[in-house]
Amino acid sequence: TADVAPPMKGDVLVHAEGPNQGQIVKASELSDKLIRAYPKGSNPKGGEVIRDKDPTNILAVYKFAPGTLKDPTKLDATVDGQIVVYGDRCMHAGCNVGDDPKGGGQMFCPCHSGQYDATQGCRVTGGPPPAPLPQLPIKQEGDQLVVTGFFLSRPYGFNKEEDWEDYI
Ligand code: FES
Repeated sequence: TADVAPPMKGDVLVHAEGPNQGQIVKASELSDKLIRAYPKGSNPKGGEVIRDKDPTNILAVYKFAPGTLKDPTKLDATVDGQIVVYGDRCMHAGCNVGDDPKGGGQMFCPCHSGQYDATQGCRVTGGPPPAPLPQLPIKQEGDQLVVTGFFLSRPYGFNKEEDWEDYI
């Protein structure tokens, strides 16, 4: 159903938690501190739906200073090489990944101490994760962030490569 469908082209990002839960994630409020989001988009039954019922749909949103994002981040899937979105479900066993206290886009998974670098395509920098967090391509419209396609690599929860390839 629409609330478990994966992020789809045209979806907008809304806050997944906190006082603004369910509200649009504004490009102007972003920083190098992680904001968790869900995609919100059209419901085939009418209206719109927040796709928050599949844990794989949780997203991590960052904005970095110009020049901070480096390979293998896909810069053409970011906003101005500054705003970047990844799946926030750890590739090891599916926990939500958070900010490492050292900041600067370094991410830490509380379950088994997996580490990722959000400034370098969420490559794995420590611990057991077998693969990077998948980048989700976006663009900016007004102050909103809009999904432009499916994850650029296989997200956790898509256990076989074919599951992901169905969407690309
Ligand atoms: Fe993230 Fe194990 S679930 S390191």
